[in-house]
Formats: sequence, C-alpha cells, structure tokens
Amino acid sequence: MPKSIRIHVLVDDWSGYNTRGALAEHGLSILVEARYGDGSIARVLLDTGQSGAPLINNARILGIDLSSIDAVALSHCHYDHSGGLETLARAVGRRVPLVLHPAALHPCYALRPALTNIGMPIEQRRLSELYELVKSEKPVEIAPGIYFLGHVPRYFEDLVPSIEGLYTATSKGLEPYAAEDDSALAIDVEGLGGVVVTGCSHSGVANIVARASEVLGSDVKAVVGGLHLVSSTRELIEATASKLRELGVEKLIVGHCTGFEAEKILSEVFKEGFSKMHSCLTISFP
Ligand SMILES: [Fe+2]
Ligand SMILES: [Fe+2]
Repeated sequence: MPKSIRIHVLVDDWSGYNTRGALAEHGLSILVEARYGDGSIARVLLDTGQSGAPLINNARILGIDLSSIDAVALSHCHYDHSGGLETLARAVGRRVPLVLHPAALHPCYALRPALTNIGMPIEQRRLSELYELVKSEKPVEIAPGIYFLGHVPRYFEDLVPSIEGLYTATSKGLEPYAAEDDSALAIDVEGLGGVVVTGCSHSGVANIVARASEVLGSDVKAVVGGLHLVSSTRELIEATASKLRELGVEKLIVGHCTGFEAEKILSEVFKEGFSKMHSCLTISFP
C-alpha cells in the first residue's frame, strides 16, 4: 500500500482565490499520486472534466506531466466527468486502462427542455480505440492499495441524493436513471487508513464510504470530491453529515456538485476538518 499520497484537483467548478491562471468549469478531474516504500510512484486519474481545456491548462500549472498517468478511472457516465476523455488520451499519448462500471456506457438523458444525452459524449468504439477498457461491477485494484469500487450497494437508502429528471435507455425504452454506474476510488494509506476520491457521489457518499471501508478493510478517514447534495433537503444533508461522522470520517475536501447549503452544514459539523476544493489544489496524506 502507498506510504503517502498526493491528490491534485485538476478540474473543479471553482478556480479558488490563489492560483494564477487556474481554470474552472462545471466538471471534475482529480489525480491520485501514490508513493511506495520502494520509491515507485503510481498515478491514477479519476475523471476528465467537461471540455478537456481546464484539465490540460491546470496540469501544466501544477507541473504534472499527463503522459506519466498509469490508468484512468471514470466515476460515472456524466459529460462533466467524461467530456475530456478524448483530449486526455491525446495528452497521455498511449493506450492506458480506463476502469469503469459497465453501466457507464449506457446513455443518460435529461429533459431540458428537449431530450439531451448528458452521458458520455464519445462512442464506445472510439473509446476502446483510445483506452484499454476495463468494465467491472466488482472492485478493481488499479495499483497497489488503489481501488476502483465498482458497484456501490445502497446500504443507507435514505441517504441517496435525488437525481430526478434523468433517464437511461434500455431495451424496454426510457427508464429513470438510478446512477447504477456511480462509483469512486478508495486508497489505503499506510498508518492513516482510507481516503475516498469521488466524482458526484450519486449513490450517496455514506454508501461509498461504507463500501470503501469494506473493500479496504480499514476506516475511511477522508473524502475528496463532489457530493451532489446541491438539490437535497436540509434533513438529508444533516443525516449524511452525521453518518459520515459515525463511519469515522474526519476530513472532507469537497466541491463540484456538493452545493453551497451542504458545504455550510458540513463545515459546521466537520469544523477544521472541512475545506473547499478548487482547481489546482494539492492535498497530501498523511
Ligand atoms: Fe458532476
Ligand atoms: Fe453526475
């Protein structure tokens, strides 16, 4: 397992106050850089943002060479996470693994106002030219101690944020999108415990944390990413905050689709353990 990790936020909805030239867009992309006892390094990227441009720009600002990435994982199908896949493949310059839930390849539609595909803006055939596709509902150990969680069971059904108005296409026609494909990364850090890196947490961040603990066999201490509580009730946000506490989470570094109201409530519950994520932010564990 990694002795230490550095997490680089390459794309977020907010560019922060302090990083000159950092670009933001509605989207998320986070790089996990793990260091091992033998001196080796593994780099796994979760998601690619929406357009690819902030990803390339912000990697340059942080001094990150995207061609050194070992593998990519996709948290779920949505365009604000998968939209940069084509640009990223060009920057990486070789066919690296792309780990994803098989349902992430299904279309996802919103009615706004006409039927619009908000899933992956790239065909599966093109995707498999660019990447070595690894479709899995089961956890995948991408690099030592770094796991893609695969299917996230709804242990706490009442803590799944609502995503009404989205549909997926099946052989029976349009059906409500239930974020079956939503997943996350979990990293086991020596002497610290688990760190979860999540895209939108449509399956509920408490469910993701519970699944990560199960897969890692250790408590999750920190969560980095988007929590999609942007249209949730105060009750759901408060219940999520106390469940995360109960599960042992001490640190939250969140942004993207978490929502202002949720960030305020979470900051009151987690106090100095809470911080807001932004493009070009680097976080080190331990
Ligand atoms: Fe998102
Ligand atoms: Fe999403």
